[in-house]
Amino acid sequence: MPAAPRPQAAVKSSVPEPVAVKGAPKAPPPPAPAAPPPKQEKVRQVLQQSEQYYATKTTIFNALIDTIDLSQLAQLDSDSAREEIRDIVVEIISIKNVVMSLSEQEQLLDDICNDVLGYGPLEPLLARDDIADIMVNGADTTYIEVNGKIERTNIRFRDNAQLMNICQRIVSQVGRRVDDSSPICDARLLDGSRVNVIAPPLAIDGPTLTIRKFKKDKLRLQDLVNFGSISEPGAELLRIIGHSRCNILISGGTGSGKTTLLNCLTGFIEPGERVITCEDSAELQLQQPHVVRLETRPPNIEGSGEITMRDLVKNCLRMRPERIIVGEVRGPEAFDLLQAMNTGHDGSMGTLHANSPREALSRIESMITMGGFSLPAKTIREMIVGSIDVVVQASRLRDGSRRIMNITEVLGLEGDTIVLQDVLKYEIEGEDENGRVVGKHRGTGIGRPRFWDRASYYNLERELALALDELGG
Ligand SMILES: Nc1ncnc2c1ncn2[C@@H]1O[C@H](COP(=O)(O)OP(=O)(O)OP(=O)(O)O)[C@@H](O)[C@H]1O
Ligand SMILES: [Mg+2]
Repeated sequence: MPAAPRPQAAVKSSVPEPVAVKGAPKAPPPPAPAAPPPKQEKVRQVLQQSEQYYATKTTIFNALIDTIDLSQLAQLDSDSAREEIRDIVVEIISIKNVVMSLSEQEQLLDDICNDVLGYGPLEPLLARDDIADIMVNGADTTYIEVNGKIERTNIRFRDNAQLMNICQRIVSQVGRRVDDSSPICDARLLDGSRVNVIAPPLAIDGPTLTIRKFKKDKLRLQDLVNFGSISEPGAELLRIIGHSRCNILISGGTGSGKTTLLNCLTGFIEPGERVITCEDSAELQLQQPHVVRLETRPPNIEGSGEITMRDLVKNCLRMRPERIIVGEVRGPEAFDLLQAMNTGHDGSMGTLHANSPREALSRIESMITMGGFSLPAKTIREMIVGSIDVVVQASRLRDGSRRIMNITEVLGLEGDTIVLQDVLKYEIEGEDENGRVVGKHRGTGIGRPRFWDRASYYNLERELALALDELGG
């Protein structure tokens, strides 16, 4: 494709007059351009930026804004726009006699291009693959989660107005708006990352942006084994549970790895099956060919047009699914999911927020009660017992690591109580010298779990016996 013509029109007026920087020596002519440092390196540099850097950047940024016509710039493709900005910024730097090293200048150019064209100071964080979450609490405070630990960065926005602008740019991609009248908004970045924005006056200290970064290369079950999140025989057990089409609930706290685990378990779905996924924000990446992906829709600015998770799950049942996967169960759709599990859609799965398998089931019960179904508690429990086979509990431990804590079977009802049975448990033994949690995944000595018959129906009896044997207990 030929390069776009150089847009002279984007320049509003001549570059501003030189401003003598007091006491500053004349900038040396720049040496031949060096290769830009790799992304990771850049990030570290950003983290170390000084007050002075921000002051310089503001001066140059303001001069740039005075010089270019942003509306003209918006008509260019991003490479030409970047080139245009770089040319002008280099000119401003030399006219204003700003003293900076070549690498600082490269950094500044990148930063300014990101501000004008992209997500500003967020860009270097978005470019990093090792970050799970980005949490911006107003212009001056940004935290990230790396390796399960939350840490503060030195990333700053010029002011809340710039931050709000970036939030606006993000949500406008999904046709939404954040402002005083609709200060809460969910959106998605082009790369699939999940975004929540809550703006003043609800967020008292400035616009607050939370991003769950989308991982292109999703973790596989083998990765979880390598990280110690589950033992080898534990993973084998999950494989058998997945293959033998048990109905599975994945329970865990925020960011404990529920969606990741769900994604791993969907790996055991046969390629020929028709799978329908329902999510608030499409995160799952199924490898099978026959998958229909559905996504909920929030109400529009006038408050209408909302499509809830329940709408999706109910509709799913009319789409001849073989398995239904619900990204997160948090309301009355629990009822429809159980119905589906109960009526020939074996191997359906969902995640929910709870701290133990037992709590997960009582949450399901209260979701159904609160959904206004007016069913007696016993009937709801019978439904739960009749539909859910296995609960897998995920946790984020105090050292930031993620573990599968329990693989638990739902056995039945005894009187009014649901009887559960752990097949595998993670036992914490202590901490090593680096503060990392040490423990073991152990079997509980169950020789014949309830899903044994299912496993043997799918010809997995021998594998199951072997896995249980290796689990010990
Ligand atoms: N076992 C694991 N080991 C290391 N990192 C993990 C593990 N499981 C998940 N992660 C990472 O943790 C982050 C959160 O995972 P995930 O989205 O699966 O959590 P979640 O419980 O679904 O969160 P939420 O409650 O916000 O929906 C992701 O970046 C993911 O890659
Ligand atoms: Mg999730």
